[in-house]
Amino acid sequence: MTTRREFLEQGAATIAALTVPALARAATPRFAELKARPARVQLAPPTYPKTEIWGYDGAMPGPELRMAQGARIQRSFLNELPQASSVHWHGIRIDNAMDGVTGLTQPAVEPGQGFDYDFVAPDAGTYWYHAHNRSTEQVARGLYGALIVEEPEAPDIDREEVLILDDWLLDPETAQIDPDFTSRHDRSHAGRRGNFIATNGRFDLSLDVKQNERLRLRLINAANARIFVLSIFGMEGWTVALDGMPLSEPKPVSEVLIIGPGQRADLIVDVTAASGETAHLVRVEDQEGVSQVAFPVSGRAAAARRGSPHPLPPNPRMDISGMEKAVTARLNMQGGAMGTLDAATLDGERKSFRQLVDANQFWAFNGTIGMTDTPLANLSVGETLKLEIYNDTSFPHAMHLHGMHFREVTGDAGLGPFRDTLLMFGGETRTIAFVVDNPGKWLFHCHMLSHADSGMMTWLEVA
Ligand code: C2O
Ligand code: CU
Repeated sequence: MTTRREFLEQGAATIAALTVPALARAATPRFAELKARPARVQLAPPTYPKTEIWGYDGAMPGPELRMAQGARIQRSFLNELPQASSVHWHGIRIDNAMDGVTGLTQPAVEPGQGFDYDFVAPDAGTYWYHAHNRSTEQVARGLYGALIVEEPEAPDIDREEVLILDDWLLDPETAQIDPDFTSRHDRSHAGRRGNFIATNGRFDLSLDVKQNERLRLRLINAANARIFVLSIFGMEGWTVALDGMPLSEPKPVSEVLIIGPGQRADLIVDVTAASGETAHLVRVEDQEGVSQVAFPVSGRAAAARRGSPHPLPPNPRMDISGMEKAVTARLNMQGGAMGTLDAATLDGERKSFRQLVDANQFWAFNGTIGMTDTPLANLSVGETLKLEIYNDTSFPHAMHLHGMHFREVTGDAGLGPFRDTLLMFGGETRTIAFVVDNPGKWLFHCHMLSHADSGMMTWLEVA
């Protein structure tokens, strides 16, 4: 049996052994550094030991990167982890070479090496950055942070809060991260789900507010697989943006708000609870509400509330026209536990489901597992793609498109809001459309990261 003391010593030894002694890159970095490295943080309550995480600049979440719309972000990424890594800037309509997808847009950055990221953010909104190599492990270990692109004119609010939601899979005794990142069960079922839920790395986040204060809450779901189902209590609110993109009309938060892995929602909320009371962002679990973030109220910001907010200014983009001439494609999502997949192609060979289970691969798109040399579609800049997706599995999936935003084709109702991640439940067929306005090789994958690792990944080629 290992005592707690031995465990801590072992932990310390591991960190020491993993530290990269001399950095291979001699030259001084060109830009401000963003350093990925192991660290220890107090994640669990103080009666537990600190948790060994991997964090950007040793922090969890990593530093908040904030810039003006249209500005340039320049960061020299430095890898001080014991594994190769890369940084993906989730939701940015970015230059393909800066997208951070190892094996597709750049080679993996080896330990001790660096990579200079340099790109322009054309759209205002709430984005995030995270590791994009061995993502199931690296994101679960804490490699992510918020990337905020500010509107030229700020909306009428008193203040804003960035809230990064995550769940951690921790050993209940030692509070260390469960190191089984390839669990067969997680891969074949709902993905790696944690047993310890936190916001900005805190299980007890509490933010003091005033009655009638108007806040902008920027919610980011950084969890590997958990779908956050949220509501608000002691506040009146409106959703003003999804996945960074402004809604044309703010939508009152009346029922629950469902945020899949990788997705974001911007809310504007007015505190209605009185001084001495506590408002909450609530997580709905088994019909029960659990506080995710507490907002104790003291004093009053204004005599009266302000009424519904104005929409955020729209982002510049090509609108979807010429839907009649759209290139069409179809994606069948197959596999997983309780699915109907009995065979699929893996590395160019036809395999039975039994063989796939042995290879720890569970999910197919159109009968093929994982990345191949052939993209899902070959497109030219300016074309419109209409993609019909059928979730022929028993699980929800959060399909994320790199480099561009799509709109859902909602039948008679027209087109839904611009998004970069589509949460699909089992049995659903949904259609998305977008103008392919960004050249390059763009990944399209499930953001339940264990699913992506075990087959749910494809890509689009835009020339
Ligand atoms: Cu946020 Cu390909 O990922
Ligand atoms: Cu999935």
